[in-house]
Amino acid sequence: MKTRITELFGIEHPIIQGGMHYVGFAELAAAVSNAGGLGMITGLTQRTPDDLAREIRRCREMTDKPFGVNLTFLPMVNAPDYPGYIRAIVEGGVKAVETAGNNPQKYLPALQEAGIKVIHKCTAVRHALKAEAIGCDAVSVDGFECGGHPGEDDVPNFILLPRAAQALKIPFVASGGMADGRSLIAALSLGADGINMGTRFVATKEAPVHENVKQAIVAASELDTRLVMRPLRNTERVLRNAAVDRLLQKEQALGSSIKFEDIVEEVAGVYPRIMKAGEMDAGAWSCGMVAGLIHDVPVVKDLIDRIMREANEIVTGVAPVTQDTWTPLG
Ligand SMILES: Cc1cc2nc3c(=O)[nH]c(=O)nc-3n(C[C@H](O)[C@H](O)[C@H](O)COP(=O)(O)O)c2cc1C
Repeated sequence: MKTRITELFGIEHPIIQGGMHYVGFAELAAAVSNAGGLGMITGLTQRTPDDLAREIRRCREMTDKPFGVNLTFLPMVNAPDYPGYIRAIVEGGVKAVETAGNNPQKYLPALQEAGIKVIHKCTAVRHALKAEAIGCDAVSVDGFECGGHPGEDDVPNFILLPRAAQALKIPFVASGGMADGRSLIAALSLGADGINMGTRFVATKEAPVHENVKQAIVAASELDTRLVMRPLRNTERVLRNAAVDRLLQKEQALGSSIKFEDIVEEVAGVYPRIMKAGEMDAGAWSCGMVAGLIHDVPVVKDLIDRIMREANEIVTGVAPVTQDTWTPLG
């Protein structure tokens, strides 16, 4: 399938794997890229720019297809060495960067002068227009249903995507709630040029995370996520667990006087314990409502092939996908 996104990034299918802390290692990025999508290494999961340079080299050993690096600008306890990470990306010959969290304007010249295409992740049309105005090559539009940080406007994709399509000239992908061929065709119908998936790619064979994480996603329904850190205006959609319940109790008890230090135990440094050690109640971890549509742990190539096959069947009317014909993989 050809869209403005496949043309921009030189990929076969309009499917991107969004950056994911402690999930987006070379193994997953390479698997997505080898299957014809655009895989993404998560920059900040690498502790130093040298570590990122090594991860980029590792990914290149696993794929000769294009892949990208995610650079997230979020409120952090200690600000990372962004110029160092950008040097590693440029010197590593990476051709795509997904920026997220904050305005990437300061870093665009260094990236784009090196021929890197920048896709900025936004949760509001006004932010997407800003990204277009400062020269981003594309945007990823994350609806309210997304795993991770949905922003503070709470606009779901059925409204957000057509609004983005009306307003934007640059290509964009639909992100949040995307899982299958229906998602892809719906996204294209609403004006997007492809899809970005997070949670769906965590529940794949190649995602280098503990099996408990994958099984938690398969077991979860669309009702099992919660929004945390809203009082801090840093809202995150996470899978409900004991730590999340504790965090929400603190939010309720402390109200608007809550500070980051009050919830440090539930949110800071918890990802390695969850993703690597499989301690599922160690803290809050990002997960989308789309968990309700995820029933299997397939190989990435089978997942992407299935999405493209379903999309094709929907468009050609050969075998419309229904609950009866849909078969879980793996
Ligand atoms: C476990 C997990 C970790 C994530 N970490 C990041 C991150 O570090 N930076 C970022 O920009 N987005 C992050 N995201 C968001 C994804 O890149 C993507 O935008 C989102 O998952 C899309 O929604 P979906 O989960 O419904 O597919 C994360 C998502 C998940 C599920």
